[in-house]
Amino acid sequence: MKILVTGGLGYIGSHTVVELQAAGFEVVIVDNLSNTHIEVLDKIEKISGIRPSFFEFDLADRTACSNFFKKENNIDGIIHFAAYKAVGESVEKPLMYYHNNIGSLINIMENMEQYAIQNIVFSSSCTVYGQPDKLPVDEKAPRKPALSPYGNTKQIAEDIIRDTVYSSAIKSIALRYFNPVGAHHTSLIGELPLGIPNNLLPFITQTAAGIRKQLNVFGDDYNTPDGTPIRDYIHVVDLAKAHVVAVKRMIDNKTKLNFETFNIGTGNGYSVLEVIKSFEKVSKIKLNYKIVGRREGDVEQVWADTSFANNELGWKAERSLDEMTLSAWNFQKQLDKN
Ligand code: WQD
Repeated sequence: MKILVTGGLGYIGSHTVVELQAAGFEVVIVDNLSNTHIEVLDKIEKISGIRPSFFEFDLADRTACSNFFKKENNIDGIIHFAAYKAVGESVEKPLMYYHNNIGSLINIMENMEQYAIQNIVFSSSCTVYGQPDKLPVDEKAPRKPALSPYGNTKQIAEDIIRDTVYSSAIKSIALRYFNPVGAHHTSLIGELPLGIPNNLLPFITQTAAGIRKQLNVFGDDYNTPDGTPIRDYIHVVDLAKAHVVAVKRMIDNKTKLNFETFNIGTGNGYSVLEVIKSFEKVSKIKLNYKIVGRREGDVEQVWADTSFANNELGWKAERSLDEMTLSAWNFQKQLDKN
């Protein structure tokens, strides 16, 4: 069975490629290297002993996309990660986000129709819920108007998929990620943001490594137990395994609807200060941080009701917050060594 992984050299993509290979799938990667390094391909081979085939081009380029599928179309499923994902950048450059994130999806799905490729797993996000009215949030919760063009591209993409599967033989599963963190236990792959990290955990590990002077904690005046925002952090390996289960579900024709969405989280919410405490415990380092003002667009608290994914998809997150923070720290130390 051959799976195309777009954005397969990225953070979540590379961890998913490793899990697909471990499950016996042949993997083809397409990545334009806009937010990763080609060395990740060597790291994947080092972990699994199998070098996936790799094609470098921009999926938002319609001609390049159709030229690729003309040659590579005996594909049993697609896992589509390739997208820009920096919330702040999307506010400054909305057209770049719509062109890339929506354009690449349309190109892929047009080729799926042309070559009768039936299954696609879509990388969605809990941002579609905004600040949920009820917590934990389940898949039936209403989507809220997106707080950023990035979040809006996830909602629009889900709508494009929903409408397309309705009129074609394509099936799709959207996995709504909560907050992916951590790294593979070999520390060969992990979250490698280019430039100043937007996300919490890479900023913590870079501060502990002395790359950043101090972590700014964006606000402790929220209506949460310790005043800092709460998120459902999930280990990237647990998240990667969910993609293998989802693509198998479609290949084995076990889906109940042609378009299904699942919340992929742990079901536990942790505050920013709890994450810092976990990091300090596992790293034995006192982290240098300062409480500052709130960050525009942050929701106060969100964590997943994972019962649908647990019972219907047959997947459950296993790794603890301490395993997440320790694996992230081990990856940072490996990076600094090299
Ligand atoms: C988590 C918490 C911050 C940095 C976004 C996207 C989501 C996904 C993950 C792509 C918040 C606080 C952070 C810092 C801080 N994106 N924080 N200081 O915003 O929940 O989710 O990234 O896949 O779709 O929406 O993640 O890690 O940026 O923030 O205090 O330097 O950490 O305020 O409460 P977020 P995050």
